[in-house]
Amino acid sequence: MSVSRKLFIKTYGCQMNVYDSERMAETLAAEGYETTDRQEEADMILLNTCHIREKAAEKVFSELGRLKPLKDAKPDLHVAVAGCVAQAEGEEIIRRAPVVDLVVGPQSYFRLPDMMRAVEGGARVVDTDFPAEDKFAELGRRRAGRRAPTAFLTVQEGCDKFCAFCVVPYTRGAEVSRAAAPLMDEARALVDAGVREITLLGQNVNAWHGEMENGRSGGLAGLIGRLAQIEGLDRIRYTTSHPNDMDDALIAAHGAEAKLMPYLHLPVQSGADRVLKAMNRKHTAEQYLRLIERIRAARPDIVLSSDFIVGFPGETEAEFEATMDLVRAVGYGSAYSFRYSPRPGTPAASREELPAGIVAERLLALQALIEEQARATQEAMIGREVSVLFERPGRMPGQWVGKSDYLHAVHVSGPDSLKGAIRRVRITASATHSLAGELVNAA
Ligand code: SAH
Ligand code: SF4
Ligand code: F3S
Repeated sequence: MSVSRKLFIKTYGCQMNVYDSERMAETLAAEGYETTDRQEEADMILLNTCHIREKAAEKVFSELGRLKPLKDAKPDLHVAVAGCVAQAEGEEIIRRAPVVDLVVGPQSYFRLPDMMRAVEGGARVVDTDFPAEDKFAELGRRRAGRRAPTAFLTVQEGCDKFCAFCVVPYTRGAEVSRAAAPLMDEARALVDAGVREITLLGQNVNAWHGEMENGRSGGLAGLIGRLAQIEGLDRIRYTTSHPNDMDDALIAAHGAEAKLMPYLHLPVQSGADRVLKAMNRKHTAEQYLRLIERIRAARPDIVLSSDFIVGFPGETEAEFEATMDLVRAVGYGSAYSFRYSPRPGTPAASREELPAGIVAERLLALQALIEEQARATQEAMIGREVSVLFERPGRMPGQWVGKSDYLHAVHVSGPDSLKGAIRRVRITASATHSLAGELVNAA
């Protein structure tokens, strides 16, 4: 039995990192590491990092700078860098930040116990391989015990799309789909621990094409259909999807599968065909709009969301306006918009950037339009009844917060028994980024 040590994990970036951090904590728990949320009492600090935009990557180095005095005061403190910055920068991290003992890429997490032992023995370790083993199969078993009512489940990892601006194919490697059988086991374990909503994760989750339990290959709609048969699992979501992988079966599932929630994040990045082509997105604006029409035909009340990149190299004023027109044509419930950030090693990085002032102006205009649409979507909910899965107490006494089927945060006042319950709620008011409502048939 090894002595207990304290592990502090800080997670940056996407939901797949959130999932990985949890699995790393479980794997290291078996090695005697107990997680803490107090950095100052940690024996091991692990930063699970993101490389998607320059700001995200730089945050890691400023955090490592802040850790230096902590390590000076406590020389046996160990610092590990995991995630996409680890994969992209490898050795360079140790060179730039001498506080770091361990650099581990996302595909090597199952080797963490061995690496930790080496680090505790005084070694400095860098592992950014893409080994042939299935990282998920080799990671520790899921911890038993009660859990929050919602959970993530990574079903697919990596990306073969190579959008011209994006680091993900380099940091996460080629697309790999996990087989249905272990996913079903993991989902059942989550449900047994109190989970009622699972969000299936993947960099290209709708490209999932794994082995079904009968040995044949299946698509995401098939996997969702199997998961929907798990009693006690009430809600299924998935993210993030690529427009070109929305197949007929998946679109149909939005109309046919009651447990599949009416919310879809379907990034388009730009509304201008020349820009889409330069981005290597492999579809036109018109094709995207037709796809949205088909999804809405299957599920008319679906709430849509997207990502946009503003100021991609060469983007003209007219091309930016085409993006604004696309947003007006779709009507999003929410969307994320980012200023283009050149990433080392990507094809777009060598192209000339637009003046920062122009990009800032466009970003503001797009964000104002998205905000207006988000507000309109929320206001359209007033007077309607929605289902809410309650997750946690609100800030006011007696207040509870949960998510509607449409992924809106909803506040009600109600009893403590609401935690983990799904209840009908009539929406009465809309605030910034949340709704208020009343329980229907409060019994
Ligand atoms: N696999 C997902 C997205 C992964 S990254 C997809 O294909 O949609 C999340 C978002 O970050 C992207 O949708 C994109 O809008 C943004 N992004 C990625 N690289 C970027 C870059 N170099 N600059 C600015 N935004 C970027
Ligand atoms: Fe990046 Fe494009 Fe792959 Fe999404 S589809 S992860 S944006 S390369
Ligand atoms: Fe960031 Fe890596 Fe996710 S770059 S967005 S943490 S896949």
